[in-house]
Amino acid sequence: MNQQTIDFIERDKAAELGGGQAKIDKQKAGGKLTARERINILLDKGTFVELDKFVIHQCHNLGMDKTFIDGDGIVSGYGKIDGRLVYVYAYDFTVFGGSLSRTNANKIVKVQKLALKMGAPIIAINDSGGARIQEGVGSLAGYGDIFYQNTISSGVIPQISVIMGPCAGGACYSPALTDFIFMVKGQSHMFVTGPDVVRSVTNEDVDKEQLGGAYTHSTKSGVSHFLGETEEDTLMMVRELLSFLPSNNMEDVPYMNTGDSPLREEESLNTLIPEDPSKPYDMKELINAIVDGNNFFEVMANFAQNIIIGFARMDGKTVGIVANQPAVQAGVLDIDSSDKAARFIRFCDCFNIPVITLEDVPGFLPGCTQEHNGIIRHGAKIVYAYVEATVPKVTLITRKAYGGAYIVLSSKHTGADVNFAYPGAEIAVMGAAGAVNILYRNKTDEEKAELTKNYEKQFSNPYRAAELGYLDEIILPSQTRAKMIQALDMTQTKIRTNPAKKHGNLPL
Ligand code: HXC
Repeated sequence: MNQQTIDFIERDKAAELGGGQAKIDKQKAGGKLTARERINILLDKGTFVELDKFVIHQCHNLGMDKTFIDGDGIVSGYGKIDGRLVYVYAYDFTVFGGSLSRTNANKIVKVQKLALKMGAPIIAINDSGGARIQEGVGSLAGYGDIFYQNTISSGVIPQISVIMGPCAGGACYSPALTDFIFMVKGQSHMFVTGPDVVRSVTNEDVDKEQLGGAYTHSTKSGVSHFLGETEEDTLMMVRELLSFLPSNNMEDVPYMNTGDSPLREEESLNTLIPEDPSKPYDMKELINAIVDGNNFFEVMANFAQNIIIGFARMDGKTVGIVANQPAVQAGVLDIDSSDKAARFIRFCDCFNIPVITLEDVPGFLPGCTQEHNGIIRHGAKIVYAYVEATVPKVTLITRKAYGGAYIVLSSKHTGADVNFAYPGAEIAVMGAAGAVNILYRNKTDEEKAELTKNYEKQFSNPYRAAELGYLDEIILPSQTRAKMIQALDMTQTKIRTNPAKKHGNLPL
């Protein structure tokens, strides 16, 4: 081996150690994996190709001219997941706390641009102290460049963020601009300002876990889409998510032979929905029963649980599912569930994923909290998202479809292609008791009871909508899977484009 080769191998080995063995030991002692370990777990074995391994920072302030580490705290490159090309970059906390320098921002932007050019998903693994303090505005500019690329790539390639350590300040906005955020229990933290600043500005005494831990962002803020138990578990979830997605907006959804018959009938569904319309049932049972292999990959499972969103396969092809959950607040629509559903529908539309809507909704949640926090503009997002979506849209009303909620949730009028209902569906302006109270305010309780019965007979069924052609078919619950797959098959050649425009003005 000649000297140049020996020198190269040594420098290469040193680069792979990032901030050095002592820093790696500290990272491990904190229960965390290193950046390279994370990438190797995420990607198919042996497929990672690292770029810019010898890039160093260009900073000469505050003693930085004495410390140069090859790679400078970002491990970036490309590899494969299930044999499909993906780009990846991971912050290396062992190098200056994973802080972002001007040069490692350039490394990130390089893979972002490659991902966009090649039409492949990009995954960012975050574990960083934020802007490199020694570099000042150069680092801030680096964030700006990353945000720019995140935004330009939005809707073209899937972008995924995995938070595996701190992610503070403006740095949070790159993950926020991506499609999905994964966090790890007890280990990930995201906040615009940390506990100390919060204490001095608002007098609130809060620790970093309560303020911006994985649980907080998965249940309260809705910032995080997936909550992993461990780093390995989280990275496996990223792989599973990608299995449902096309690599870019020009591709069809991936096909997987699941071996599940498209004609499979599910007798249990005939008795899932209680006869008493005020009794709850678990919509997830219905979803699991109709999708291929009973495999439903839920998104935001712990946030706004009155609506369910997620991916599944029907006859081998990916679908997005949006479903009211009658088991949580009767499946009512509110601000958080509107935001959750609308963003998901828009994601599906970006990436050619048909949307199935399962509807059992009593209406929008009344009250000052909802009104004063803008249920009108948040609820409008759902209408906007469904109308704008050009992908196939199939809707099933399982039970209640009342008022505005009936219209906004992928009704025929807001652009659904196929509309089904079960025989027990109730489609009306409002529930019978509410309607009678408004129309016959001065009647006695006895008279009201009689009028309620009449109203129910007249309106609390699917037939008026079917007579008007607003429903295409009334189906038996046991046939749901077969009927859905037939509808998806029929709509797969759908061509619909919206009028040319720069972009619409989504209510925000
Ligand atoms: C340079 C940094 C750094 C930073 C950490 N380090 N953050 N170096 N710039 N932003 C260095 C530390 O000096 C230390 O170096 C090593 O990384 C590990 O840090 P520790 O503090 O020992 O680790 P830990 O105790 O685990 O604490 C991690 C931490 C803390 C919570 C992230 O380091 C921290 O609070 N850092 C500052 C966070 C911050 O305020 N960043 C700026 C946010 S504003 P040695 O050599 O001792 O090992 C921002 C603006 C973005 O990012 C705007 C975008 C538009």
